Amino acid sequence: MKRILVTGGCGFIGSNFIRDQLTRYPEQEVVNVDKLTYAGNPANLSDIENDPRYRFLQGDICDRAFMERALSGSPVDAVVHFAAESHVDRSILDSGPFVETNIVGTQVLLDVCRAAEISRYVQVSTDEVYGSLGDEGFFTEETPLAPNSPYSASKAAADMLVRSYFHTFGFPAVITRCSNNYGPYQFPEKLLPLFISNAINDQSLPVYGTGENVRDWIHVLDHCRGIDAALRRGKVGEVYNFGGETELRNIDLTRTLLELLGKPESLIQFVRDRPGHDLRYAIDCSKARSELDWSPEVEFRHGLEETIEWYQTQTAWIQNIKSGEYRSYYAAQYKDRLQTQGDTE
Ligand code: NAD
Ligand code: TYD
Repeated sequence: MKRILVTGGCGFIGSNFIRDQLTRYPEQEVVNVDKLTYAGNPANLSDIENDPRYRFLQGDICDRAFMERALSGSPVDAVVHFAAESHVDRSILDSGPFVETNIVGTQVLLDVCRAAEISRYVQVSTDEVYGSLGDEGFFTEETPLAPNSPYSASKAAADMLVRSYFHTFGFPAVITRCSNNYGPYQFPEKLLPLFISNAINDQSLPVYGTGENVRDWIHVLDHCRGIDAALRRGKVGEVYNFGGETELRNIDLTRTLLELLGKPESLIQFVRDRPGHDLRYAIDCSKARSELDWSPEVEFRHGLEETIEWYQTQTAWIQNIKSGEYRSYYAAQYKDRLQTQGDTE
């Protein structure tokens, strides 16, 4: 696999994946196609931008002519598709960009990849396509899809398109579904980087509802190793689940964060719940263990401490983001919620 094309490589997981690939495989060449939406940040890859094995193309996966040029200009062996609108809260505010990028973008990508006769395609999907669990049980690859948010519905639709291209055309696709990632370079709208950066600045941490919702947390580099395994050893037509086997209630995770940062619990602020908020995600990774020889390796508390340290030392990275479009989104998203709770900040 001499050259791979990655979509969405300037985002959180894509940038970690590209860096990991270039480190892991000295001969690997990577083409990164990214539109640079609010979540795409070239600074995430500033350390490798001059590596001769790396090439960046700014563009939209929905733009068929551009994608055809991207694939023919530098023929690639495989495509790993990360590019997406990825934040549930934004999908509740406006589902339009989610349908456009996550569904139409995937369809365009599948068509151009098929025409280019690439030998392997990885669809990076999410456990959220399975919907929500109650107090018991785990998602397996056989769990029926039952997405609850516009974000997860758009990801499920993309997965169904990928599945159909495999069945109809024999398209060499693999689908991966992973739980909540944490680690460096995550845009501070998601729970962990938002709460870390707020706590560092003595700002309140807006916990939705009562904080009883449970997420499974996996270090982003464990996820990247899983995608690498699916890319190189996965069987076409198959789905592989990845998870960190670390289930935590949001409120417990928030308290742990505050403890590690040495900040008071008085920063916790319970705010109006997210509409349609999924109660619990938990992953059964036994298929990835047995068929890909993969398992999560980063111990959660250790990974969390390292992640906190990263954000503590990357204040310029966070401030750059927070001075941009993020500021108006954050205001629109939280003003109403916080005021509902009697906070007039
Ligand atoms: P992110 O929001 O940090 O990054 C998304 C990237 O895609 C950005 O660089 C953005 O500029 C780019 N992009 C968006 N629309 C594009 C378009 N039309 N054309 C080209 N580029 C475009 O997302 P992330 O958290 O890194 O997630 C990456 C993938 O992994 C997504 O498909 C997401 O659904 C999936 N996933 C994420 C998690 C998680 O915990 N973050 C868990 C499981 C699966
Ligand atoms: P998030 O990071 O948005 O990921 P996802 O919704 O894809 O799981 O949220 C993780 C959990 O944290 C989820 O249960 C919602 C909750 N949450 C809060 O309580 N407050 C917040 O400000 C955010 C962003 C999330």
